[in-house]
Amino acid sequence: MAQRGRATNADIEKYLQLFDRPIDAVVAIREHIENAKKQQLTSQRPTPQLDTPIVVSARHLERHYRIGKKRVDALQDVSLDIHQGEFVALTGPSGSGKSTLLQTIGGLDKPSSGEVFVGDTNIAKLSDAKLSRFRGQTIGFVFQFFYLQPFLNVKQNIDVPGMFAGTNRKNRHAYIEKVARAVGLEERLSHMPSELSGGQMQRVAIARALLNKPKIILADEPTGNLDSKNSKIIIDLFEKIRRDFGTTIIIVTHDQEIAYRADREIRLLDGRLA
Ligand SMILES: Nc1ncnc2c1ncn2[C@@H]1O[C@H](COP(=O)(O)OP(=O)(O)OP(=O)(O)O)[C@@H](O)[C@H]1O
Ligand SMILES: [Mg+2]
Repeated sequence: MAQRGRATNADIEKYLQLFDRPIDAVVAIREHIENAKKQQLTSQRPTPQLDTPIVVSARHLERHYRIGKKRVDALQDVSLDIHQGEFVALTGPSGSGKSTLLQTIGGLDKPSSGEVFVGDTNIAKLSDAKLSRFRGQTIGFVFQFFYLQPFLNVKQNIDVPGMFAGTNRKNRHAYIEKVARAVGLEERLSHMPSELSGGQMQRVAIARALLNKPKIILADEPTGNLDSKNSKIIIDLFEKIRRDFGTTIIIVTHDQEIAYRADREIRLLDGRLA
């Protein structure tokens, strides 16, 4: 049997006998390896968290853009429920609406029509000021390009959402130590971003996202800028955060191996659920 992405000699023999043309055998072997890999990765999937309350509920979301005379339908009739503590991968081709959906769920963008409930709150109905406060308290964002402040050290970068929320400074600083430990950067608090690797920078961004103890983390291609070793570290970290803090994690990814590790994959195609 193909294991860990490799075909054994016996596999190759079998496929060469099955097909007249070697090229067909090669295609079949590839498929075989891909399936074995998928099986191996999905068998590691934790049990879906579907018995917990729903934390995100989208109903008939539409998002249309107008560019000159052309209308772009970025989201079309998207309805979905996500449960507390779920780890969801949002996938689909470029331009299929993944970022638009993530930003709409997170209240960074407003739908043209439809509703988004986060917990019991219909976020499309909140005023900008209330939405901004709600976002800060409920949602942690992580992006592909980290967006650290180059002139602040690691500790100060992690503290940025705390400064905006205006929470008690002393409690916050104790919590920074905790989240820095959670992401394995407790030794780096006084370092500047320029002294860190890409993987470490993303871990700072994740610690920053955790600071206000969000119920939900929304991550848009958080491994898009990282090599495979660091990507794995980041995904392992999301799994640990989900386990230790009970955080719901929704992650946009192009990486099928990451999608297999999630509890559930939600796929978009041309702005619709596939
Ligand atoms: N501000 C905007 N103005 C006009 N069109 C937009 C805007 N933002 C997104 N779109 C369009 O909406 C569609 C969905 O875009 P979105 O960024 O959500 O895709 P995506 O799935 O995240 O793609 P990628 O994988 O490349 O990041 C695309 O056709 C895009 O061009
Ligand atoms: Mg995108």
